[in-house]
Amino acid sequence: MTDNTNTTVLVTGASGTLGTAVLPRLEKEGYRVRPMSRRARSGWVAADLRTGEGLNEAVDGVTVIVHLASAPGRPQRTDVEGTERLLTVARAAGVRHVLYVSINGIDRVPYRYYRAKLDTEEVVKRAGIPYTILRAAQFHPFVEMLLATMSKLGPVIIDPAWRLQPVAIEDVADRIAELIASPATGETTEYAGPEVLTFDELARGWLAARGSKRPIWRLRFPGRMARAIRSGAQTTTATPAGTHGWRDYLAAKY
Ligand SMILES: NC(=O)c1ccc[n+]([C@@H]2O[C@H](COP(=O)([O-])OP(=O)(O)OC[C@H]3O[C@@H](n4cnc5c(N)ncnc54)[C@H](OP(=O)(O)O)[C@@H]3O)[C@@H](O)[C@H]2O)c1
Repeated sequence: MTDNTNTTVLVTGASGTLGTAVLPRLEKEGYRVRPMSRRARSGWVAADLRTGEGLNEAVDGVTVIVHLASAPGRPQRTDVEGTERLLTVARAAGVRHVLYVSINGIDRVPYRYYRAKLDTEEVVKRAGIPYTILRAAQFHPFVEMLLATMSKLGPVIIDPAWRLQPVAIEDVADRIAELIASPATGETTEYAGPEVLTFDELARGWLAARGSKRPIWRLRFPGRMARAIRSGAQTTTATPAGTHGWRDYLAAKY
């Protein structure tokens, strides 16, 4: 195993869904992991992408940045401008590789947050630091959160023809560990789970796993975004792909 003890990896968004899988994965590889959050926590660095506060301290002595932090509700200031703030100080500090996690299909699905992710990818490409952009499919916990939101009124209200290829956060963490073990690729690659599923299949699997008899209401959602998701804009043929499917996620949880 490579000796990573002298490689400090800053993980932004370390407290988030993906961050919770990435931290133990990188620690297992022996890296000196520096998790970042806006909130002060013992052993973490406190910094805010939106204000720039704490960023100089965050990047000091860092070799690699795994950049996961994001604010879908206000992406311009946090994702686009915040990434620019982060990478400006990172370049001055001599960071050698930034791995940015983006989302599959952001160039194929018209959605405000996705436009900001595309702009953030451009910021990463222009920052003057060797980079790798890993676009990932929807994480299993995110799909479950979507289904829960779609059930707020009682029945699960879905567009049954939406197609996704959800991925396990542990698989994404493995892929990130692989990618930072090598020099930056300067490329943008997609990564998804082992199977494409319709929302009908996702919803039925979810209800069955929880033993729920909740009805499913099937509608054709209007608009260009819904149409793009029906057409499979968020799925990919890219390899490698994750190995853990939706059923594995549900079986482990319920
Ligand atoms: N969710 C999905 O299905 C999915 C799929 C593909 C790709 N992605 C991408 O993967 C990345 C991680 O997603 P996730 O679902 O793990 O995100 P998440 O759970 O929403 O976590 C977002 C993180 O961003 C941090 N953050 C927010 N505003 C910040 C600010 N102003 N300064 C510093 N940190 C800030 C938060 O940290 P604190 O609150 O601790 O400060 C939090 O840990 C994102 O870039 C997302 O676009 C997500």
